[in-house]
Amino acid sequence: RTIIAPSILACDLARLGEELRAAESGGADWHHVDVMDGHFVPNLTFGPDIVKAARKASSLPLDVHLMIEDPARYAEAFIKAGAGLLTFHIEVLADPLPLIRRIRDLGARPGLVVKPKTPASSVFPWLKQIDMVLVMTVEPGFTGQSFMPDCVAKIAKLRREAGPELDIEVDGGIDERTVAETAAAGANVVVAGASVYRG
Ligand code: DX5
Ligand code: ZN
Repeated sequence: RTIIAPSILACDLARLGEELRAAESGGADWHHVDVMDGHFVPNLTFGPDIVKAARKASSLPLDVHLMIEDPARYAEAFIKAGAGLLTFHIEVLADPLPLIRRIRDLGARPGLVVKPKTPASSVFPWLKQIDMVLVMTVEPGFTGQSFMPDCVAKIAKLRREAGPELDIEVDGGIDERTVAETAAAGANVVVAGASVYRG
């Protein structure tokens, strides 16, 4: 079964609690929280306090996607705030293993993210240590961008290498049309921002 994780980046933030509950009653499995630092991506979004607010408003797992240059500095704060899954970009750390271990020790599930131009093989060495790979299907930074079909081959490559157990999540431009090809390629977790909250 496919896990659906609506991204709060696209919701009406003035009504965060109601939006989370509406997504939940509409069939959401997790809530996806996009954390941006204005350096790794050209946009700024949420800190741990928003995760804490979401944690209070919903009992679903919070899938926190760190698009920041220094994930090691903030991992603990996000986990203490309620992140159940914490993913960070392979592009920012030459050796992600210490942070993967620390995230698990702090009680959350670690995952690695690849941007559209980063090859699948860049995360192969750590597939046994992580719970999820997030394959970006847009350049990270904004909601409402168009799905990049070139990324589909990467999902299939990862699924072949990882086997059936690993969660493979796709993020960016996913809607009722593009979701099918990502699922067929082997993704089992889909993030959806605009297509859920603005659809
Ligand atoms: C983009 C974020 C996505 C974004 C998805 O940088 O990582 O999670 O919110 O939004 P849509 O589904 O609208 O592309
Ligand atoms: Zn995201």
